[in-house]
Amino acid sequence: MAPHSEFTDGTQAPNSLQAICYKRGSLQLLDQTKLPLQSTYLDIRDSTDGWHAIKDMVVRGAPAIAIAAALSLAVEIFNLEDFNGTPDEAFSFIVMKLEYLVSSRPTAVNLSDAAAKLKQIASAVATNTSDARNVFEAYIEASEIMLKDDVASNKAIGSHGASFIQHLLGNSKNIFMLTHCNTGSLATAGYGTALGVIRSLHTEGVLERAYCTETRPFNQGSRLTAFELVHDKIPATLIADSAAAALMKFGRVNAVVVGADRVAANGDTANKIGTYNLAVSAKHHNIPFFVAAPLTSVDLSLSSGEEIIIEERSPKELLNTHGGLGEQVAASGISVWNPAFDVTPANLVTGIITEKGVVTKKGTDAFDIKGFVQKEAVQASA
Ligand code: MRU
Repeated sequence: MAPHSEFTDGTQAPNSLQAICYKRGSLQLLDQTKLPLQSTYLDIRDSTDGWHAIKDMVVRGAPAIAIAAALSLAVEIFNLEDFNGTPDEAFSFIVMKLEYLVSSRPTAVNLSDAAAKLKQIASAVATNTSDARNVFEAYIEASEIMLKDDVASNKAIGSHGASFIQHLLGNSKNIFMLTHCNTGSLATAGYGTALGVIRSLHTEGVLERAYCTETRPFNQGSRLTAFELVHDKIPATLIADSAAAALMKFGRVNAVVVGADRVAANGDTANKIGTYNLAVSAKHHNIPFFVAAPLTSVDLSLSSGEEIIIEERSPKELLNTHGGLGEQVAASGISVWNPAFDVTPANLVTGIITEKGVVTKKGTDAFDIKGFVQKEAVQASA
C-alpha cells in the first residue's frame, strides 16, 4: 500500500468525502486513520493490500469494508498477467481470496454477504464457460455493481428515514438528532446510512441540529462524523459519549439514529460499542431510537443477537491516545477489555430504516424482518 495525494494516473485525488476511489484496474482508499488532519489516499493493488487496509481501519464501516474488499480483488484479477488456468481454477482462486478477505474483520455481515454473492456469480459463470477470463470478468462486473448500488440504497434509506421521523414527530420543522460512530460517506460508498438520514432531514430543511458522539476509543465520531458534518455545513455539535444521557435529559434529542454492522432476524442489532448505552438512555427518556442499515446488513440466519460474533480489538486503542495511534496515557500493567461492538436488543429499537422502507414492530418486542423482506419481494414482482 503506497500513500498518494495524487493518483497513479497523475490525476489529483478528490478533495471530498470519497473513501473509495475506483476505476477498472485501480483502487485508492482514503486513509481514515489520518483524518481529519490529512487526506491521503493509499494505492490498493491486491487482496493482501485490501485485507491490511480493512484490518488497520484505513477503510472502515460495514458497507465500505465489503465494497473495498470486493474491489481489491477485482483490481488484483484485472492486473493478473500469468493466469493460465481453467474456469474452475479461476473460481477456486476467487473463493480462496474472498475467504482471506472475510477473515479481516468478523462482526459486519456485509463483508461475508458480499463474498457469498460474488462466489455465487463466479460459480454460475464457471460452470457455463470454457474460458477462465469470463469468470474473472463476471467477478469484476459484479463488484463494480456493488459500488454503484450502495449509494442508491443509502439515498433511499435517507429518504425513508427522514419521512418516517418527520411524521412520527408530528411534522416538526426543528428536529434534533443524535448519532453515534461514523455512518456517513466514509463508512459507505457515499451518502451514508444513519448519517444519510440526517443529511436527508437537513436537505428537507427540518433538521435543527445533529449531535454526534466522540465514539471512544477509536473516535470515529469526533474524527470522521464531525468532519463530514462540518464539510457538508450541517449544524452539528460534538459531545463526549458520556454526555448523551444528560443531553437527552435536557430535552435536546428528538430521536436517535445509528447504523448497524449486523442485524439478526428479530432486529437485535450489533453496532459500534456504546450504541447499547444510547438505546437504554433513549428508552429511559422516551426518545425514539432508530437503526438505519441496508438489507445487506441483516443476517436472517441468526435468530437473535446472541449469536453475533463481537470483534475485540487491541488494548492499545484504550491505553494510548488517538485510539491507539498516539502516546500511552493509561497505567502500564492495567488489563483491558475492548469489544468493538455491542448488541442492542430489539425491544429498545423503534424502527429499522432500510432502503425498502422502515421495519416496525407489530405489538411485540421483536421485528419480523424476514416477513418484511418477503412482502417487499412480492410487491416488487407484482
Ligand atoms: O469499527 P468501524 O469503524 O468499522 O465501525 C463500524 C461502523 O462504522 C459502525 O458500527 C456503523 O454504525 C455501521 S457502518 C455504517
